[in-house]
Amino acid sequence: MLDQLKCKQSGTLLDVMQVINTNGKGIAFIVDDENKFCGVMTDGDIRRLLLDGKDLSAGIQDLPNSECTVAYSHESFQEMLDKTNESVSILPVLNDANELVDFFQYQNKVYVPVATPNLKGNEFKYLVDAYLSTWISSSGSYIRQFEDEFSTYCQCEYGVAVSNGTVAIHLALEALGVGKGDEVIVPDLTFAATINAVFHAGATPVIVDVDEDSWCIDPAEIEKAISPKTKAIIPVHIYGQVCDMDRIMSLSKKHNLYVIEDCAEAHGATFKGQKVGSFGHISTFSFFGNKVITTGEGGMCVTNDADLNDQMCVLRDHGMSKEKRYWHDRVGYNYRMTNLQAAIGVGQLERIDEILQFRREIEQAYKEICTDINFIQFEKDFENKNRITWLVSALVTNGKRDELIAKLKAESIDARPFFYPLGDMEPYKDYVFSNENSKKLSAMGINFPTGQALTDKLKKRIKSVFQEFA
Ligand SMILES: Cc1ncc(COP(=O)(O)O)c(C=O)c1O
Repeated sequence: MLDQLKCKQSGTLLDVMQVINTNGKGIAFIVDDENKFCGVMTDGDIRRLLLDGKDLSAGIQDLPNSECTVAYSHESFQEMLDKTNESVSILPVLNDANELVDFFQYQNKVYVPVATPNLKGNEFKYLVDAYLSTWISSSGSYIRQFEDEFSTYCQCEYGVAVSNGTVAIHLALEALGVGKGDEVIVPDLTFAATINAVFHAGATPVIVDVDEDSWCIDPAEIEKAISPKTKAIIPVHIYGQVCDMDRIMSLSKKHNLYVIEDCAEAHGATFKGQKVGSFGHISTFSFFGNKVITTGEGGMCVTNDADLNDQMCVLRDHGMSKEKRYWHDRVGYNYRMTNLQAAIGVGQLERIDEILQFRREIEQAYKEICTDINFIQFEKDFENKNRITWLVSALVTNGKRDELIAKLKAESIDARPFFYPLGDMEPYKDYVFSNENSKKLSAMGINFPTGQALTDKLKKRIKSVFQEFA
């Protein structure tokens, strides 16, 4: 990198511009033929010189600022750090012979990722235990333990751990016998995994709109979209919000349809005091690294139906008969989770309440930042629905969502837009029944990071960005 910051004193203004353009740091260190430091030139210096009528081919012999702040290689980190400030964040480091030997840069902006796994409990201990047991594939005690404990957490009888949340949905569809010729109703506002799994099962998706207040699948739209071919509904508890499970389950009864709850983003949420995942015939979870609890990659199907549980266990393991090893009654899959993943999952589950509380506090902090900001409308709370905070989700109502995200990114804050409407994308566009609200929400929605507690400094950084848009 140091070479990309250097420019020879015998060069021209154009040479300096090229160096600055390549290193992207807005500065060049000027050295003579012996690598002796002559000074710095910044992009601002060049701009001023050009405005003063200097030519790009002009030599830079006398131009570098030799009065600039420099660091010396014998100085400590703290001494160098103390020389940086708001306007000087990068320093040339010189040796005693005044030669340029290094540079020092202090990025005052801590990167805030959209999500960070919180692995501070027993995860590592259990992982090492699984490792030392040598049961590192898909047999081993942590798998059963994770399945038992997570299904109990979801108020369900059975859990089938799988390799990710997408195959969990596919496995559920297969176990329910949903396939070619069947229609499956999915919401337009969701991650594509929900609809992809329907295609994987060979069924036909029917995309319906979401409710504009809850952002979840709209039961009235489900009802309109039901046809004689409809076999299943996949409500998605999107962004930690809870679908109207009373209305969805009554549609399921009335029309004899299966319900697969996609709970990938809503671990621990409840509807009328009952955990999401415990309403559907089968429900699915993801334990991807950005989810409330994680196993790296991973997922689980939960159910209260013993027969469906048996079928999923068989299908997950190549369709192999439980009674007769290497005998296959059905074409199955390898969708197994490893004991290593499950060990992490057991550790995560021990602290799920703490993790959810941590995220809730981050959401609260965003709300406090926004007390005098009126263009951010946070996710709503509804009677009888106890949603969770996955990411901090909100709508940007002033039409500047994308600019806000870009500005936050420039401040190293990894905010994300809502998912695109499924119906806007080529593979799915022919399957839309309705998606008006979803389109509107998708264009306005933003997810703020929940990976890191908001320190006072970070709150200030975020607030100053918000205020620019007020
Ligand atoms: C709503 C939804 N469904 C399904 C999935 C798929 O989960 P995975 O990434 O574990 O396959 C995800 C997440 O990634 C999701 O957000």
